[in-house]
Amino acid sequence: MHVLSLFLSAIFFFLFLASTISITPTTSQPPALRRIHHRDLSVDYYSKKCPQLENLVGSITSQRFKEVPISAPATIRLFFHDCFVEGCDGSILIETKKGSKKLAERDAYENKELREEGFESINKAKALVESHCPSLVSCSDILAIAARDFIHLAGGPYYQVKKGRWDGKRSTATNVPPNIPRSNSTVDQLIKLFASKGLTVEELVVLSGSHTIGFAHCKNFVGRLYNFKGSKQPDPTLDPRLLKELRMSCPFYGGSTGVVLPLDATTPFVFDNGYFTGLGSKMAFLESDQAIFLDPRTKPIVLEMARDKQRFLKAYGGTMDKMGSIGVKRGKKHGEIRTDCRVFL
Ligand code: HEM
Repeated sequence: MHVLSLFLSAIFFFLFLASTISITPTTSQPPALRRIHHRDLSVDYYSKKCPQLENLVGSITSQRFKEVPISAPATIRLFFHDCFVEGCDGSILIETKKGSKKLAERDAYENKELREEGFESINKAKALVESHCPSLVSCSDILAIAARDFIHLAGGPYYQVKKGRWDGKRSTATNVPPNIPRSNSTVDQLIKLFASKGLTVEELVVLSGSHTIGFAHCKNFVGRLYNFKGSKQPDPTLDPRLLKELRMSCPFYGGSTGVVLPLDATTPFVFDNGYFTGLGSKMAFLESDQAIFLDPRTKPIVLEMARDKQRFLKAYGGTMDKMGSIGVKRGKKHGEIRTDCRVFL
């Protein structure tokens, strides 16, 4: 099918979806991460304590993927936002105490658009795991397994998840802003942020390939449509046909805040390298996505991923595994094994 008509049908579908999808209020907090320690984690960590763990989580993720497919991008993004703030420690899953002025991570501005479907998937998986292996498995490990499951269910790579994370004992909204990239972050800012988590420029590009599935709200790219950087003109790096379509869905005034559009306009439901091929055709929605195509440090990697789907899928599995090792916590001094992912013990 012609790319544009595919895109148009996707738009109508998502306008419809937007009215039904609930957008989760979320939170945040800051950095101070330990360096990545792969040695802290192992694939067979629960092989004696809870040998059926991956099957239990898998039964929830496959059911959710069938019934609520939006859970896939929602959970993948949730994992990213967990790992980049305080490390992969499930701190994103904590709910702010009723009446408390001290907001938890998930209620930070940067996390407002994390979808409820991601949190629900983890809470359901945790409830099932608790019924078989009480107080043994951390929420952060369940999140890591669920993210991998959803990537695979959507057509992406399968990789072994290393486990052994403990859940963090802190979740503070003010820690979030310096650790989560923005839709208009520059390549310099992205490279610095990812480097601060121990991730290379290539890994930044590969992980951005997560935008091969999932959606973005108008507010995250409307700045490119009408008055780009105060020029009163649209972003010249945006395809003119795409610009027209985006303006229809995202008016300058009076648009619905619930409207979402697919980040990969060509194959929005499939975990493939369509995101990278789209970047080359000026089809990126987010300024940060377009920026990695334009910058000479990142462009060759984008082109390579666009050229070779298998290369991307292989690199993606390994890089997600590495991201999952950021700032892991072990032991009672730094962590706990929660029984309910939403509250500290
Ligand atoms: C490189 C810097 C990145 C920036 C600036 C960025 C920014 C964004 C923004 C603005 C959205 C749209 C949110 C919305 O409007 O609802 C989004 C969606 C998404 N991001 Fe990223 N992101 C980045 C990297 C990543 C990484 C590393 C991952 C995963 C490892 C990821 C996974 C996702 C997914 C799956 C979605 C779709 C979420 C959904 O549909 O619910 N992103 N991102």
